[in-house]
Amino acid sequence: MRIYRAKDYKDLSRKAANILSAQVIIKPNCVLGLATGSSPIGTYQQLIEWYNKGDLDFSEVTTVNLDEYRGLGMESDQSYVYFMHHNFFDHINIRPENINLPNGKNPDAEAECARYEKVIQDVGGIDIQLLGIGRNGHIGFNEPGAAFEKNTHCVNLTESTIEANKRFFKSIDDVPRQAYTMGISSIMHARKILIIASGTDKAQAIHDAFFGPVTPQVPASVLQLHPDVTLVADSNALSLVPQDLI
Ligand code: F6R
Repeated sequence: MRIYRAKDYKDLSRKAANILSAQVIIKPNCVLGLATGSSPIGTYQQLIEWYNKGDLDFSEVTTVNLDEYRGLGMESDQSYVYFMHHNFFDHINIRPENINLPNGKNPDAEAECARYEKVIQDVGGIDIQLLGIGRNGHIGFNEPGAAFEKNTHCVNLTESTIEANKRFFKSIDDVPRQAYTMGISSIMHARKILIIASGTDKAQAIHDAFFGPVTPQVPASVLQLHPDVTLVADSNALSLVPQDLI
């Protein structure tokens, strides 16, 4: 695993964007696995800036997102499909037909998860998967205890995730209780993983994920078993990691 220490959030975003743009330049028809949340917003902004400068071309790129709330779609500004368009897709030249997310509006969870897993296979697998990390060590919506062998599936959100995500909703009652998410197995099949973390509230999760035992209690710890992981984190997120190990 490679660890890049970033000075601050801007530096982190630039470093992460550099890695994603290298992928797009080396393989213009690559498959990018993408994430929502606060962590990647700066990365998307940096990519948009480089696209506007003419340094990046997304016309052949395909994307697959990690997850979506069950029940939400484009009409809701809290849906992940809305987030991705608003923060990234609407500002670059990606083809609409190359954008993939789980369809939160499909009430048939089993059919939707099977469809999405097939989409990932049909596009040829993920070249690089961008991940954030939850304070409890979750990746995607794979919460502590999630089985490592799962593909895309429907999950019940934990109280801590509902609590963490309520900042995006009018009230905690509006936070959906379920989501469709790539499973740990879907994520582990990505050829490369890029995980980003910023701030002291991620320090324990980063410590436990990369410097503790591999356990389903810390879903991100499974990444220790992946052959090509890059962690880009700021000093606050790395503050609990023994300095001689970085
Ligand atoms: C987002 C996702 C989540 C987030 C994680 C961190 O698509 O799957 O696992 O990456 O909850 O969220 P932030 O970046 O908001 O701290």
